Amino acid sequence: MILERFMTKHLPGIERELDRCLPAETAYPEKLHAAMRYSILGGGKRLRALLALAATEMVAKDRFGKLQKAAYRLAAAAEMIHGYSLIHDDLPCMDDDDFRRGKPSNHKVFGEALAVLSGDALLTESFVLLAQLEELGVPSQVVTKVIWEMAQAGGSRGLIGGQAVDLESEGVSISAATLEYIHTHKTGALFRAVLRCGAMIAGADDQELDSITKYAECFGLCFQITDDILDVVGDEAKLGKKVGSDAEQQKVTYVSLYGLDEARRLAVDTMEKAKAAVADFQPESDVLCRLAEYVVQRDH
Ligand code: IPE
Ligand code: IPE
Ligand code: MG
Ligand code: MG
Ligand code: MG
Repeated sequence: MILERFMTKHLPGIERELDRCLPAETAYPEKLHAAMRYSILGGGKRLRALLALAATEMVAKDRFGKLQKAAYRLAAAAEMIHGYSLIHDDLPCMDDDDFRRGKPSNHKVFGEALAVLSGDALLTESFVLLAQLEELGVPSQVVTKVIWEMAQAGGSRGLIGGQAVDLESEGVSISAATLEYIHTHKTGALFRAVLRCGAMIAGADDQELDSITKYAECFGLCFQITDDILDVVGDEAKLGKKVGSDAEQQKVTYVSLYGLDEARRLAVDTMEKAKAAVADFQPESDVLCRLAEYVVQRDH
């Protein structure tokens, strides 16, 4: 109930914010903007956006109203970075996947060159949105920290580092530590950044930030373990992407390394750790706890 209420309250606003923040389809060069909008609008669970809003709300409590516009802008930036990473992840030179969010991947519709460019543009534009946080009331020192966090998370010591090791590990046997590096970087880094930034714009102190960081690290891991599990046992129609892609690309995943049962156990274990990390915030941490449960129980 708590999570349904939170989603009903925020999902339409996230969609509107993304629509407003993206260049219009009629803006020149129209094809590029159509490609950007195609992959961002009307699809996806919006987890990164929801997490940013949940972190802001948890720390801000009754001050959330004043911070809402900034939180939505951060949420939109996070979804644009995530969306760009998916467009590139699906390219033939990466995972070579033809379906995403129940429709043909960006490169299948717009061609590879435009898929690369629309991803580049989304990543770059997301930092325009972050730079706007100051005019939405966030103190400039906090805006600088937010930009720093998001850039680090998206860079070679974050998401890109994880993607690079993921690709170089195809078809080779890797250690558990390398697999954990892949997961905490290709997926975990952005979750960590959006949660920390959401809390930072609400003025979180160091102790609050530490708890949220611990939650985020566990959340990211349990999210990606579940992504690996769904790639084996998921339903393509519900997932909106191909299953069996990891095996086809000879990826080492939590399932291939530990087996399905142990992977499930690890997912539940990290979910419990995520919940424990924000126990001090109760009852305001309820939404984050329900989101962690949702992520391991999800079927898409
Ligand atoms: C999928 O992320 C890509 C990974 C990081 C594993 P999501 O499962 O959050 O994708 P959408 O946004 O809901 O489509
Ligand atoms: C994608 O991981 C991670 C990023 C896009 C940064 P996956 O390759 O496992 O994601 P899916 O399964 O294609 O959604
Ligand atoms: Mg991949
Ligand atoms: Mg992939
Ligand atoms: Mg996957």
